[in-house]
Amino acid sequence: MKISVVGCGYLGAVHAACMVELGHEVVGIDVDERKIELLAAGTPPFFEPGLPELLASAMASGRLRFSSDIADARGATVHFIAVGTPQREGSNAADLRYVDAAVDALIPHLAAGDLVVGKSTVPVGTAARLAERITTGAPGASLAWNPEFLREGFAVADTISPDRLVYGIDASDTTAEGILDSVYSRALAADTPKVVTDFATAELVKVSANAFLATKISFINAMAEVAEATGADVTALADAIGHDARIGRRFLNAGLGFGGGCLPKDIRAFMARAEELGVDQALSFLQEVDAINMRRRERMVDLAREVVGGDVSGRRIAVLGLAFKPNSDDVRDSPALDVAVRLTELGADVVATDPQAVETARLRKPQLAVAGTAMEAARDADAVLLLTEWQEYREIDPEELGSLVRTRAIVDGRNCLDPAQWRAAGWTYRALGRP
Ligand code: UDX
Repeated sequence: MKISVVGCGYLGAVHAACMVELGHEVVGIDVDERKIELLAAGTPPFFEPGLPELLASAMASGRLRFSSDIADARGATVHFIAVGTPQREGSNAADLRYVDAAVDALIPHLAAGDLVVGKSTVPVGTAARLAERITTGAPGASLAWNPEFLREGFAVADTISPDRLVYGIDASDTTAEGILDSVYSRALAADTPKVVTDFATAELVKVSANAFLATKISFINAMAEVAEATGADVTALADAIGHDARIGRRFLNAGLGFGGGCLPKDIRAFMARAEELGVDQALSFLQEVDAINMRRRERMVDLAREVVGGDVSGRRIAVLGLAFKPNSDDVRDSPALDVAVRLTELGADVVATDPQAVETARLRKPQLAVAGTAMEAARDADAVLLLTEWQEYREIDPEELGSLVRTRAIVDGRNCLDPAQWRAAGWTYRALGRP
């Protein structure tokens, strides 16, 4: 099939390359010319494992091109909308200006029979509004809503082999399902579950899934608070309750909490939309989910204070990890970056490092002092904070790190180290939710 992907950020760039891998002919479109230049040269503008290789093979196939001109969407049958929906400045609501602009720009180039497919995460009600605009502006074209559940760090695998497909389709649309089936024929042949539903449900599937995941993380972090007050160990607790198949162990890792470009802004936008719909009470628990999450960052700062004897001012603190999670260079709403900045503001002499996110962090916080490696960051440190659980940090030798620091004190913000091993090497080991 001929496909256009409008918006070549995180979601769109991965989606475009994966659609080529699935056998389609794709044009990726973005208003950001620098991004388009990089992608056309086969360079992803962000770090994502497997994407450079996939882009290279997609470009070599001759079935992928990039353009900053929306008119190049002409001739495609399926047009994915993959632009961002960030949090609106000064509000919890989603900023829909990029989605609206993308659809408006696309309409003059649509032909009868074309299908516009929304992928961006939007407040419920958006698809119905856009569908009306499309059918008025481009008679014979229609809209479907097909939310995306990819995780950063696993984006390629999640796109090629999704764990489910959700189609939101207008009841009167007789062709959209067949078109989407052709797009995803490979996943469907592999028995990927498919849910065909209406626009509102499809939009809600996405935000409710993220709300559930955020709630699961904040639940275990709430248990971590109780564990800290009682001398219990939240990691053993998570293992034990996780054995109950109804609960499940995944997404029960207590620590510094969730960040990134999706969960925090999505739960806030969901609450804002619920308020507009007059059902804010139904989602009031998400306020608590957000508050528990933000409290973890404060607790981390308090633990840093504790291990250096009460006042971080003038103390050397090594921060390992800046990305919001491992295998990503994304620092949007990153708990790690937030803690590093808070400590700097308290007068600590922070040196931070990350295998991939140093550049992106410095773009946002140019005042942050950074080092190339964990060993460099740890030199003469009064305390080490592990804030993003990169595999290479999990594998650090406590003796080697210990030979560089001034004081052997570590706070494990992701519960990813073995306390016994670190204590045996003479370290003061502290963690969130563990004795
Ligand atoms: C999330 C959803 O998982 C994905 O389905 C959706 O499409 C986009 O949002 P992503 O933001 O890439 O994906 O990251 P995810 O792996 O969900 O992690 C989100 C945050 O939660 C990270 O900061 C991570 O460190 C944190 N987290 C995750 C925990 O603190 N504990 C856990 O047990 C799991």
